[in-house]
Amino acid sequence: MLKDKIEALKAQIADLKAENEEALEALRIKYLSKKGEVTALFNEFRNVAPEEKRELGQRLNELKNLATEKINALREATKQQAKEQNKIDITRPAFPAELGTRHPISVVRKQIIDIFSRLGFTIADGPEVEDDWHVFSALNFAADHPARDMQDTFFIEKNDQDVTRNIVLRSHTSSVQVRTMERQQPPIRIICPGRVYRNEAITARAHCFFHQIEGLYIDKNVTFADLKQVLLHFAKELFGTETEIRLRPSYFPFTEPSAEMDVTCMLCGGKGCGFCKHTGWVEILGCGMVDPAVLEASGIDSSVYSGYAFGLGVERITNLKYMVKDLRMFSENDVRFLDEFKSAH
Ligand code: DAH
Repeated sequence: MLKDKIEALKAQIADLKAENEEALEALRIKYLSKKGEVTALFNEFRNVAPEEKRELGQRLNELKNLATEKINALREATKQQAKEQNKIDITRPAFPAELGTRHPISVVRKQIIDIFSRLGFTIADGPEVEDDWHVFSALNFAADHPARDMQDTFFIEKNDQDVTRNIVLRSHTSSVQVRTMERQQPPIRIICPGRVYRNEAITARAHCFFHQIEGLYIDKNVTFADLKQVLLHFAKELFGTETEIRLRPSYFPFTEPSAEMDVTCMLCGGKGCGFCKHTGWVEILGCGMVDPAVLEASGIDSSVYSGYAFGLGVERITNLKYMVKDLRMFSENDVRFLDEFKSAH
């Protein structure tokens, strides 16, 4: 019966769904094209008895309208859907791009550089692969000084007959003092941050490379009092204004007199604790008045000029500031360690 077919098709069409435009086009063809199911019922209508034509004709028209409306509605819906899929929502949060952090050594190096920059020191640079002259000879190291031993220094080229032709990885940044003095007459006021190398087994307390900052000030009438005052200022800036310093006599080939500087222990404030071995003091750098022989070796008249020098280890100071127990942490690139310095600048 045509009437039943019409009703069945109506029910079917009312439930139609289309995922996308292709599916929708398939539906349009299935129901509304020349060979479609709705059109087929119109063809059947021709054979309907005249008395039924009025009612069935009406029903058929309703079916056709329903099908056309449904397809149109689905078309709108798929269009809308496609639009939404292509739409860029600029209010969505961005991908969580992690911000990097400065390495703790860089943080502390910068803090130290900033302090000396404010005092008028400028930065000087020199090579890491150096010759014997700049690392040892010009700095007054005797030919048989133990630092010249292969056990302490990495040699790139070694000539036992002629020590001055040896090429080494610099074992301290004091070499940059020499390079600067060779290039420039006083006044000289520089700091030299850089990496240095020593032939040491890698443990929690020693590494085969680390970082130093060298300081050098040469002018007329520079005295030990100037050195002491600058270092005191430095210690207070770096560790806090309550910090005090202590200079202990020491020996370096390139300074005379020489000293090692301690600061009051940052853990106990000088009272004495396990960290400072109950002395209240921790050592942070070596320093002294530049030996006249060193000035002369670099072409500076030691009867006119004098100066002071100091050298400090950046890892050591970083350990003291941030209580890092194991030197190896600095070169292992463990993000859990590095992330701890997110708020340091
Ligand atoms: N060069 C020394 C070292 O590596 C550190 C040092 C000590 C540098 C005293 C200086 C100084 O300029 O005056 O252990």
